[in-house]
Amino acid sequence: MESTLSNSPGLPRVSWLDAEPMPLVPLADEDRAYPYLAIIRRYIGGAADAGIHTEARTPAPAATPDAPITAADCLERLAEADRVFADWLGPLQRTAAEVAGVDSSRMAEALNHMHHASRRLTMCDAVLLDNVVELARVTIDEQVPGDFIETGVWRGGVTILLRAALNAFGDRSRNVWVADSFAGLPAPDPAADLREAIWHHLMGAVDGLRSDLAGVRESFAKAGLLDRRVRFLPGWFADTLPAAPIEQLALMRLDGDWYESTRVALDALYPRLSPGGFVIVDDYGLPTGCARAVDEYRAVHGIDAPLTRVDGQAVYWRKPW
Ligand SMILES: C[S@@+](CC[C@H](N)C(=O)[O-])C[C@H]1O[C@@H](n2cnc3c(N)ncnc32)[C@H](O)[C@@H]1O
Repeated sequence: MESTLSNSPGLPRVSWLDAEPMPLVPLADEDRAYPYLAIIRRYIGGAADAGIHTEARTPAPAATPDAPITAADCLERLAEADRVFADWLGPLQRTAAEVAGVDSSRMAEALNHMHHASRRLTMCDAVLLDNVVELARVTIDEQVPGDFIETGVWRGGVTILLRAALNAFGDRSRNVWVADSFAGLPAPDPAADLREAIWHHLMGAVDGLRSDLAGVRESFAKAGLLDRRVRFLPGWFADTLPAAPIEQLALMRLDGDWYESTRVALDALYPRLSPGGFVIVDDYGLPTGCARAVDEYRAVHGIDAPLTRVDGQAVYWRKPW
């Protein structure tokens, strides 16, 4: 098989990336595992010199310009949100920006990571990716049984890294489940959660995070990582997760932004998480309803395992034995 992944300057040559099936790297051999994962991380971060062609595949909607999103664009979109949500904002005597808790210049910076013209396959930064690799390694090292899943994958970068981690740390049997609507974020009801509904409107600047399944499959394939252990669950979480043919999980990473998306994932998947497995919640610190969904779920199920902070936004906990 001809791989589109080439070796990056400065990193050891990893010619076994071309092989099918992927040769396994013994766990102890961190000299090989981490350089391999470093290449994959550069790839999913959109680095032009990662040695893989990472053109963003999702076609730009006709109305979406290629130019970066500016703070002025964000102010305009916030003013539009003031009009769209006037019926809900009026009685509160607050603006869309106040309810959403956003600052237009930071909002522009964040949105440009998600812009259709960006080559990134993940919006996660190095700290978040370190956490994914480390927890994947621990579950493999400690033989916590079960697959890995990310709910809310966008362009698939984190799930590509998880599949690579299975190779890097010598796992031969786990699957990686890739769950997304591939149609972007669902629209929250403003009557139920005005803040999320405003955020959804603001995310219109990046086409509501729409990605496409064919593009994600292609991104796996370009890294030589598309095989039968990568399992796709396209559709709304409420439709796909409860009946998904997943027996056991060792690691679940929730990145669906909203209250409902987080709650549905916890309800459907936490009972299938092995003792000793990890739940990573990317959006716990976001000004959306994600933290409420997590706190409610943990309270209802008497989960008191401590939450560990990954950065200002993400947290994880380990299911007790
Ligand atoms: C913030 S992005 C995920 C970012 C991604 N984990 C990364 O590494 O860049 C959120 C994703 O969740 C998906 N999503 C959110 N709620 C969903 C739901 N209820 N059903 C299906 N997909 C959902 C969206 O389509 C979007 O791709």
